[in-house]
Amino acid sequence: MSFLVKIREKAREVNRSVVLPEGTDERVVTAAAKVVELGIARPIVIGNKEEMERVANDLGLSLKGVEIVEVKNSSKLEAYAEKLAELRAKKGMTVEKAREILLNDPNFFGAMMVKMGDADAMVSGSDSPTADVLRAGLQVIGTRPGIKTVSSVFVMELTERQETYGDVLLFGDCSVIPVPTAEQLADIAEASVITAENVVGMQGKVALMTFSTKGSASHPDIDVVIEAGKILDERKVNFQYEAEVQADAAIVKSVAMKKCPNSQVAGSANILIFPNLAAGNIGYKLVQRLAGANAYGPIIQGLAAPINDLSRGCSVDDIVNLVAITAVQAAE
Ligand code: ACO
Repeated sequence: MSFLVKIREKAREVNRSVVLPEGTDERVVTAAAKVVELGIARPIVIGNKEEMERVANDLGLSLKGVEIVEVKNSSKLEAYAEKLAELRAKKGMTVEKAREILLNDPNFFGAMMVKMGDADAMVSGSDSPTADVLRAGLQVIGTRPGIKTVSSVFVMELTERQETYGDVLLFGDCSVIPVPTAEQLADIAEASVITAENVVGMQGKVALMTFSTKGSASHPDIDVVIEAGKILDERKVNFQYEAEVQADAAIVKSVAMKKCPNSQVAGSANILIFPNLAAGNIGYKLVQRLAGANAYGPIIQGLAAPINDLSRGCSVDDIVNLVAITAVQAAE
């Protein structure tokens, strides 16, 4: 069964509410209607009711089952402004400033809905850059108790050579932390294993990748990855990992046999951690384009409640699928 079929099934079972702040986008309105039709989640769309109904009418869609929230008419606006001011008080936020942000930035209003328990999760980004969606999540939702780092993974579903590499690999972090420290790399590895279990139902085997395998080169950038492995040793994590491996040693058995024959992970890793955002972002896009893999994500991990980011070039189905993934995360 494909990843998508499984995730949609799981989403139907958990039946969570997901807020979509970008109701001005036709794709979002269409996706919300489809989410209801498929029973994937209970969508809440932020936007102008009349405008959305006009769009739905033009497209022949029914908005039955889609909750529409108009920020300026919301009875929750004042309570949200007060809470946002409280959350960001250390940064000098006032209630007036918070109200202005909520009226003008639907990502913040959506994040506040999640914070205040009026929605279980949020999916945004069809009309805003990644950093704006992430900032709303970081500033309003914050990290889970005990977790310092927010990061992300892509679920890479292979369309060929599955017999060699498996159906699904996770790539992290391809969208959040530009230059992770050793501690952040260790956090990304830990969070990715949890996402693998909860979202994909897969037991993670982690490769912390770089441009050397077990001492074949030396460089300060490699030291960061080696250090991340040591941090995982100290944390005594309960999953398998190997630090300082090249990509081929991570996933190709014959190469692993030569470069690190004693590793339990090399040659069969299913979670690939990149040393920085440049490598991760380039890496997932190359595998998607050149190998024809389906890339689902970025799935943001480490927030106290799930908020996920769409690409601005997303299709209606991309939105529906990310809503399903997000709903499943919300049920963790
Ligand atoms: N984990 C935990 N906390 C974080 C993180 C993180 N990864 N990043 C920032 N924070 C904290 C900040 O320290 C800050 O804490 P404070 O309020 O106590 O001071 C709080 O979260 C709010 O952060 P901001 O200052 O608002 O955000 P910042 O300027 O640090 O930027 C961001 C964070 C937006 C994630 C930035 O790192 C970024 O732009 N990353 C790259 C995003 C991107 O463009 N990705 C590529 C495209 S995506 C794609 O192609 C799929």
